[in-house]
Amino acid sequence: MSVKKLLVLPGDGIGPEVMREVGRVIAWLGRRRDLRFEITEDLVGGASLEAYGTPIRDEVITRAREADAVLFGSVGDPKWNHVGFDRRPELAILRLRQDLGLFANLRPAKVFDALIDASTLRPDVIRGLDIMIVRESVGGIYFGEPRGVETLPDGTKRGINTEVYTTAEIERVGRVAFDLARKRDNHVCSVEKHNVMESGLLWKEVITALQAREYPDVKLTHMLADNCAMQLVRNPRQFDVVVTGNLFGDLLSDLASMLTGSLGMLPSATLGSVTADGRFPALYEPIHGSAPDIAGQGIANPIAQILSLAMLLKYSFGMEAEAAMIEDAVSAVLASGLRTADIMSDGMARVGTSVMGEAIVRELDKLQGCPPAYGVPSSAISKNGEG
Ligand code: IPM
Ligand code: MG
Repeated sequence: MSVKKLLVLPGDGIGPEVMREVGRVIAWLGRRRDLRFEITEDLVGGASLEAYGTPIRDEVITRAREADAVLFGSVGDPKWNHVGFDRRPELAILRLRQDLGLFANLRPAKVFDALIDASTLRPDVIRGLDIMIVRESVGGIYFGEPRGVETLPDGTKRGINTEVYTTAEIERVGRVAFDLARKRDNHVCSVEKHNVMESGLLWKEVITALQAREYPDVKLTHMLADNCAMQLVRNPRQFDVVVTGNLFGDLLSDLASMLTGSLGMLPSATLGSVTADGRFPALYEPIHGSAPDIAGQGIANPIAQILSLAMLLKYSFGMEAEAAMIEDAVSAVLASGLRTADIMSDGMARVGTSVMGEAIVRELDKLQGCPPAYGVPSSAISKNGEG
């Protein structure tokens, strides 16, 4: 098999420490599954701002284009709140999405049985929940022109952002949603605000026509964004695939992630279209942010970052078996009672970032049928306590 090129961008806050645990899984894939990756690592976000005066260098964008896939950590830190939008750490991910044409942001919200009590919702509402939010990620109000802040004649100001969507932009993300639905429960719910926004009306019309023309076998429903937020909490299992614009997708995916009990559990993929020379641009990142409040303490949950690698293997390289093994290893570790602080509950064993990573690799060995090389040192575990 050819060596796949990965660009790894850990970023800020807990990014580097959870990415370290991904390194263990990559090493395991080399050791036990004979999968070799050529890995380049670079700085983005606040880390890059500090070192180079910019949240992302052009050469990192070029390297991202040349890579077979990008594995991203997280960016942002309140200490950069004072810098302008042209230099903020968040610009790193926004530029990667835009410059690589990564228009379809896939955000699954899946409930792990072992964590059913970690959710603030009742178990009977969320048991078995498995939804996929497809968020358009290079258009809409995040990038629309005009934008800016202007000073009015009386000296007060006016802030402007513009929601813009074209037929082509709606169709391409719509196709991703319908294609995904065909492999799942065959239902797409399209979400907008056609009652108040022209761009929302166009969104609904384009998705409706697309379904009639190309996907008559897939069930399509429509929902206003505010109602969708309410329905996600009331009865989340009514959804299979949700397709929506950039801003609504940002909000609804955060909401959906909390149905599962922990932001620290959820990966995401952001995909572009296959290029003329056969490349498939794609970036994978956890849904959680950089969590500066707990950074450097070794307590962050590495699971979302590790599951982002699983998504990468599946969507970029078609390595379904390895992706499934990683997911199964995570489920097994949770079933065994190990928990990082964010998903801790009564009677479970609290562990830090690296013990969680080691435990996942140990489960991978078991799934592979290899005797475990080492166990989790009991000194690393504290029952219900601080650890
Ligand atoms: C996300 C984040 C980003 C976004 C930020 C970091 C720019 O919230 O990926 O959801 O708003 O898209
Ligand atoms: Mg967000």
